[in-house]
Amino acid sequence: MSDMSYLFSPDDLRLKTAIGIREANVIRIPMTNGTALYGPYVDLLAGRHQALIRFDPETPCHGGAMMDVCAEFAAERLAEQWITADQILAGGMSAKLEFSCPRPLQGVEVRLLVDGSFSAGIASVEISGELADSTSELLTVSISDLPEPSVENCVRKGRNLYEGYQRGIGLAFSNLGTRIAADPDFHRARALAGSRTIVDEAKLANIFLLIKFFLPRLPFGHIVEFGSYRGGSAIFMASLAQKFLPGVEVFGFDTFAGMPATDRAVDAHRAGGFSDVDLTELHRYVEWAGVRNVTFVKGYFEETAAAVLEQQHSVAFCHIDCDIRSAVEYAYDIARPCMVPGGYWVFDDPLSADCLGAAEAVEDILIKRDGLNSEQVDPHYVFREPFEKVTRR
Ligand SMILES: C[S@@+](CC[C@H](N)C(=O)[O-])C[C@H]1O[C@@H](n2cnc3c(N)ncnc32)[C@H](O)[C@@H]1O
Repeated sequence: MSDMSYLFSPDDLRLKTAIGIREANVIRIPMTNGTALYGPYVDLLAGRHQALIRFDPETPCHGGAMMDVCAEFAAERLAEQWITADQILAGGMSAKLEFSCPRPLQGVEVRLLVDGSFSAGIASVEISGELADSTSELLTVSISDLPEPSVENCVRKGRNLYEGYQRGIGLAFSNLGTRIAADPDFHRARALAGSRTIVDEAKLANIFLLIKFFLPRLPFGHIVEFGSYRGGSAIFMASLAQKFLPGVEVFGFDTFAGMPATDRAVDAHRAGGFSDVDLTELHRYVEWAGVRNVTFVKGYFEETAAAVLEQQHSVAFCHIDCDIRSAVEYAYDIARPCMVPGGYWVFDDPLSADCLGAAEAVEDILIKRDGLNSEQVDPHYVFREPFEKVTRR
């Protein structure tokens, strides 16, 4: 058997509430009729699982509520139980519900339905479980699960459209995303990242494909990330690299104290955004989780990245997730000398509604100045370092 566990805190928007009041560390439930909790809509593998709601000891707890676990976006109820304030108290301010998934299920949520007599504060939701190894082996995604696009498999204008279509079409128009969600290596990496990442599931699936199937085809190089915030996507990549890219390290650059000053002419983001990070806690977590191939580098990219990259020699994958024009441009330019021929530039933001500054950096620098064409536009904007590049070392 192998284990998985997810932890969701009240500020994670995958935990939803219809009648609750969301505060920094708690979702406060007033004495009103309705759905106090629903979400987080995770995909689970077949196995035995447990949902645990922890309640805030500082918030008075009264009455009773219906706790249940549903799958397939509420179409299937897996378990339900009436819980009372007395039971919550006896359980150390928590309520748990065991359930099993007879097959891989999508959109699993934990709900708390209240009738106006219940009040409490939700401090976290945990979903954990045991997966059967035999099931896991059967579900491993292989390269033959990717579609075979009708274009030639060759390099054209500096990128391989066949490979871009394999990932993009596979994720957009087939059940590849669902298959990836059930893959044990994806599952483990996703569980380790938990609610520490705001990168969406399709993008995480694309990163999984890149690391498992495409990066091993390139010369050796490390993974760098510009914009790590609470560390989730870096941990996700490090977990996959441990399995598929021996010797590869992940370097996550961030202030870990919020956005720097931004340019009001082009950026919708403002200084100080994403400041809710505790780097000491993040270090403790990666230590505890045994993710030894990730290093977080604190400070402005402009003050930290050059020295770290100088020591690391080569990079094969650069994940640029920093939202604003100046940072995207700087990240790309500083990492370029280290990028191996054919290396991947993976941009999280340029096609997001609130990141036109990131889009402008890609348009001006990669497309106009460096004459690159993209290999993939959905769910990421992906470019390749020129294959004919002469490396500096
Ligand atoms: C969208 S968040 C990254 C999300 C993260 N990859 C995840 O897994 O959720 C963007 C991050 O970029 C960082 N950032 C932007 N410009 C920066 C700069 N010049 N130096 C350091 N960090 C920067 C911000 O501090 C913020 O944490």
